[in-house]
Amino acid sequence: MKKVLVAGGAGYIGTHTMVELFESGFEVVCVDNLYNSSMEAVERVEKISGKKVNFYESDLLNKDELMDIFDKEHPDAVIMFAGYKAVGESVEKPLEYYYNNLLSLMNVCDVMRKKDCHSIIFSSSATVYGDPERCPVTEESPKGEITNPYGQTKSMIEQILMDLSKADDKLNVILLRYFNPIGAHPSGLIGEDPQGIPNNLVPYVAQVAVGRREAVHVFGNDYDTPDGTGVRDYIHVVDLAKGHVAALNVIEKAPGLHIYNLGTGTGYSVLDVIHAYEKACGKELKYVIDPRRPGDIAMNYCDPTKALKEMGWKAEKTIEDMCADSYRWQSMNPYGYKETEHPSICLQ
Ligand code: NAD
Ligand code: UFG
Repeated sequence: MKKVLVAGGAGYIGTHTMVELFESGFEVVCVDNLYNSSMEAVERVEKISGKKVNFYESDLLNKDELMDIFDKEHPDAVIMFAGYKAVGESVEKPLEYYYNNLLSLMNVCDVMRKKDCHSIIFSSSATVYGDPERCPVTEESPKGEITNPYGQTKSMIEQILMDLSKADDKLNVILLRYFNPIGAHPSGLIGEDPQGIPNNLVPYVAQVAVGRREAVHVFGNDYDTPDGTGVRDYIHVVDLAKGHVAALNVIEKAPGLHIYNLGTGTGYSVLDVIHAYEKACGKELKYVIDPRRPGDIAMNYCDPTKALKEMGWKAEKTIEDMCADSYRWQSMNPYGYKETEHPSICLQ
């Protein structure tokens, strides 16, 4: 295993994974249509790693272009990050989500089959567990009811890849179920760069910390959790990125289909996160309690022991590291990869 095609590599998790792939000696080919990312992010990866990213600006819906890329590059494996990922938007635009997420995955699989590439790692999500009956969830925990099209695409793609793996002995599939990736590379050069108002907690808190927004909106404090706010398994994006390198190594040792939870195994509440962030940025952060967000669950955290046993992978970084690195990225790049933001869309 030498050359890895990273589909959607210019995005948040993809950029961090490319850095770790370089660090571990892989050659990297990145294919991204820059729908939710920028060339600047790819250039920052090159700056951190001192290596050249073989970058193709291309839409995975364009199968002919992808065939050409495989003809030129002959990758040994694909890591499939590409897709739309906003839960709320997926409820409003289900067709766009099913179309982009499913078709791009199917194109990748078809081209892999035609071009003799036999290993794929897919970015799945804790969302496939729905509202778990008990935590921590293991890979054997039942899949749950999914309340949005984004989550459905994850579950459907898992099924597609499991069926493909059953039908083809040579195909290696690793489904990585991410819990809540946060934080940024410790260099402060790459990080999460949401467009518009952030949907996720930590990017929102980060923007409050640098003065781009006034107060964090806490979605509900009447859940059945220790402080009433939602509990999640936050994982540092660099640990998550390393999980992909570990997964590539597993394919060498134990081909076939594997599913792993990638989380720390510890749950933190919304208020825990706000307080940890306050320590990281050295100031108090304003927050207000709002009603629950529709579709949210009280609690989700995982048991990550299978990943440790089989891949030798374990998340190393603490919630303090996650907040410190997020804050470093946000203060060095208050508007993400852009220079400024139009004032009318600030301060919500
Ligand atoms: P991201 O949006 O930052 O990155 C996805 C990349 O895919 C973007 O650069 C985008 O331009 C690209 N892309 C989308 N459609 C494409 C297409 N048709 N052709 C080519 N490129 C395309 O997202 P991320 O946070 O890095 O997430 C990566 C993957 O992990 C996604 O599949 C996401 O659903 C999954 N995931 C993310 C989280 C999270 O909290 N970030 C949690 C669980 C799972
Ligand atoms: N929250 C707030 N205020 C905000 C944003 C979030 O209080 O502004 C709360 C939520 O109610 C929840 C917690 O913070 O309790 C985490 O919310 P996020 O939106 O950051 O993350 P989710 O767990 O809702 O969703 C994430 C990913 C999804 C993925 C899911 C899997 O965004 O893509 O994890 O569990 F499907």
